[in-house]
Formats: sequence, C-alpha cells, structure tokens
Amino acid sequence: MAAKISLCELAARKAAKQKITMVTAYDYPTAQMVDKAGLDMILVGDSLGMVVLGYDSTVPVTMEDMLHHIKAVMRGNQRAFVLGDLPFMSYQVSVEQAVTNGGRLIKEGGCDGVKLEGGRDVVPQVEGLCRAGIPVCAHIGLTPQTATNLGGFKVQGKDAASAHTLMKDALALEKAGAFMLVLECVPDILAREISRALTIPTIGIGAAKECDGQVLVFHDLLGLFHGFIPKFVKHYAQLEEEIVTALRHYGEEVTTGVFPGPEHCFAMNEQEAQRFLHKEE
Ligand code: KIV
Repeated sequence: MAAKISLCELAARKAAKQKITMVTAYDYPTAQMVDKAGLDMILVGDSLGMVVLGYDSTVPVTMEDMLHHIKAVMRGNQRAFVLGDLPFMSYQVSVEQAVTNGGRLIKEGGCDGVKLEGGRDVVPQVEGLCRAGIPVCAHIGLTPQTATNLGGFKVQGKDAASAHTLMKDALALEKAGAFMLVLECVPDILAREISRALTIPTIGIGAAKECDGQVLVFHDLLGLFHGFIPKFVKHYAQLEEEIVTALRHYGEEVTTGVFPGPEHCFAMNEQEAQRFLHKEE
C-alpha cells in the first residue's frame, strides 16, 4: 500500500515544482476510486450541498452534513490527504467556534485538515486553529459561502485594487499559519503572482496553471452535474448519459421479463421443491 500523503510531502512538492492533484469526494466508493487513481488530496467540500444534497448554494450545509460525509470518505480512503470543509457559520462567529468545529471535523470525522473561506477577516480563526494543532487550508477569490456579497459566482480580483487586496489576504493567511491556499476564480496573472509570492502551495480552481496544484469537483469533472457549469470545468467523462442509459436498459429488461435471468436466481433441490409444492415440511 502506498504511503499516506503527509503535510511534509505537500510542502516538498512546491519546493520540487511537482504538481498536487486534488478532487472532491463525498462518500465511500468515490474515496476508493480517487485512491485507486492515485490522486494526492481529497476535499470533502461543502459543494456537496449543491452536487449531492440538491441545494442551490453551499449555505445550508451543516456541521452534521459535513461529519456524515467526511466519515464515509475516511472509510474509503487510504492514501490521499483529506481536507474537510468548515461549513457556513461554523467558524465566522468566533475563534472559539472555529476551533471547536475544526476540532470536531478532525476528531469525529477523522480528516487530516480543514478548509475555511475568507481573507484577512479569518486570520484570527486560522491562528486559533493552527495553535490547536489543526492543519488549515485557506480559500480566497470566489468564496461560494459568501457569493451573494461578491455579486454572484463571478471572477474576483479583476482590477489592480482588488488583486492587491487578494495578494495581501494570501500573505496574511500564510503568515497566520495556513499550510495551503485554494484560489478560486481569479485571473491567471494574479494566481501566478500569489503562487510565486507564497512559500505554501496554492491550489487553483478557475485560476492559473502556475498554481502548485489543481482541484475540481468530482461531479463536474465526470459530467454528473448539469446545474451550473463554470468555464473552468473540464469534463473528463460524460457519466450521467452512461448511467441514465444503463438505468433505462435495466428498467426495460425488468418490464419485459428479461431480467433476472436464470443465472441471477437461486434453484432449490428438485426433491425439496416437490415437497414444498405438495405442502410437506
Ligand atoms: O466545496 C468545494 O468543493 C470547494 C472547491 C470548489 C474548492 O470549496
């Protein structure tokens, strides 16, 4: 079995200019597939609210939702470093709330680190989590939990002033102790400059290829989610079509009596069958 990906390994990747691969996963079989594919990191993202639970944003996701899914992923994962997302309003209120809930994701969920959204506003939370020994990945740019304040799901840091703001946020989050930074939906020049300025790895989603790694949502990558498809999504398969075709085929075979065939059924010994049919015990 390949060795578990550690914090040291992730830091070393940046120094060695080797890319880090991350994808979201929300359940046991998916975690097993990600592990088989040899990807480095799993994010149990609060995107599960949209792609698994059917909400129209990540806002309704609760700590209990996150714990439920993180535990399932941990049962399927062997090698990948697993990040659990702190959901909306589980860390914004106070440092104490952030440490309590970050601690629950690690202790009850069993994941390796936590992710939270925000810039300099969440520096006290990042410091508190790090002091408590919890590895923290920060997330700036388009932050879905507060997308309404950002004017919707839009590219952030498009002008020099907002790009400088995001650069200052990135530097402050690194100084606060974050071990990694997700950059979502920012211009490539900004993602490149932040990646160069930081010593911790950056992970891009709708950001530059110069980021130290990339993340995509599992359902987007495999063509399993057709709600809102951002420009940064690349479909590596169209599984929804394949699954619907297979389900339709199954339905037809049940309706027409083709399934189950004799190979899917269990026979009774002939003598026992006769006794049963003649109501003998
Ligand atoms: O919740 C999530 O899946 C995320 C990624 C989009 C980075 O935060």
